[in-house]
Amino acid sequence: MSVDENMLVAAAKAVRHHAYAPYSGFFVGAALIDETGAIHSGCNVENAAFPQGACAEANAIGAMVAAGGKKIVAIAAVGGADDLEACTPCGGCRQRIQEFASEDTRVILIGDDGSIESYLIDDLLPATFRLR
Ligand code: THU
Repeated sequence: MSVDENMLVAAAKAVRHHAYAPYSGFFVGAALIDETGAIHSGCNVENAAFPQGACAEANAIGAMVAAGGKKIVAIAAVGGADDLEACTPCGGCRQRIQEFASEDTRVILIGDDGSIESYLIDDLLPATFRLR
């Protein structure tokens, strides 16, 4: 499936406006496309009990699973306080993405210069833990 990276970034930017991040002030949006072509999105949702906060990628993945999606073809994430900054997925979210990834799953990010960058999830999390 060919992925319109600009469209996925636009969806991530749109959902970022709903991020709930009163503690960090760092607002994140994530949007993914699944194996059916459906798009699922999520934003970070923080909590006064800090460890209970959830990342944008985790919530987008939860939306995909709830909708019946099985595989992440590509996932875009955008984050920042005021302006968008480069926002690579945290380690935990790399593992979450891998759970539903294929070897060609792409992670799409905004680079420091504002350009769109694309990585293979295997390059962001090599030697992934897998339970067999
Ligand atoms: N955050 C995400 O939503 N995704 C990431 O991959 C990195 C961090 C959120 C968690 C927290 O609400 C805020 O960004 C600052 O860490």
